Amino acid sequence: MQRGYFFSAEGGEGAGKSSIVSRLSEYLDSRGLEIITSREPGGIAIAEQIRSVILDKENTEMDGRTEALLYAAARRQHYVEKIVPTLNEGKSIICDRFIDSSLAYQGHARGLGIDKVLSINEFAIEDVFPDLTIYLDIDPEVGLRRINENADREINRLDLESLAFHRKVREGYLELVRRFPARIVKINANQKMDEVFEDVKQVFDRFLVSMGKLS
Ligand code: TYD
Repeated sequence: MQRGYFFSAEGGEGAGKSSIVSRLSEYLDSRGLEIITSREPGGIAIAEQIRSVILDKENTEMDGRTEALLYAAARRQHYVEKIVPTLNEGKSIICDRFIDSSLAYQGHARGLGIDKVLSINEFAIEDVFPDLTIYLDIDPEVGLRRINENADREINRLDLESLAFHRKVREGYLELVRRFPARIVKINANQKMDEVFEDVKQVFDRFLVSMGKLS
């Protein structure tokens, strides 16, 4: 059986990732891919438990390396329990955040170093990187404004970080786009959501054509 495709979606706060992921999943399904979605940190029980420790607003004393290791631990369990079995069944998966979140947030924005965080994550994922990653690039001020307008969304510990931190997250992602040009595609997420989705569709159509799944 042919292995499924592994996709990830990345972006700063308020970039519209979760709505793009659900629209993309419907779109890929309509293109004939058997597809499931998941998210990090979380996606399965143990990782959801780790997620609640990491994102707890009370845990203000959490050390940066502890945070990076917890994300990598949650990722490891999610990888073993969900990502690998899904791909082996021939299904494709879109993960809302994956390794690049750790590289941008912990590696760059928290200053731990992209290479150091990459190495603990390579241990966690045994070098299985996504086949394609979209990075929804948004000006942090626009993103934070969108979050504040959306009253339904829970505010987590990382949302409370300063604008300067979110600017650094963006810088980190832009560095990753430069480092991994064959895997990561940058999408302008400052546009209206329908326009963002049109761009996303084009990227995936190109990918499917290159895999011989679409003519
Ligand atoms: P979540 O509520 O899932 O945020 P979003 O809707 O923006 O995806 O919270 C996840 C938070 O964790 C988010 O602020 C990004 C952060 N994060 C990291 O710092 N490193 C990581 O490796 C991952 C997966 C997430």
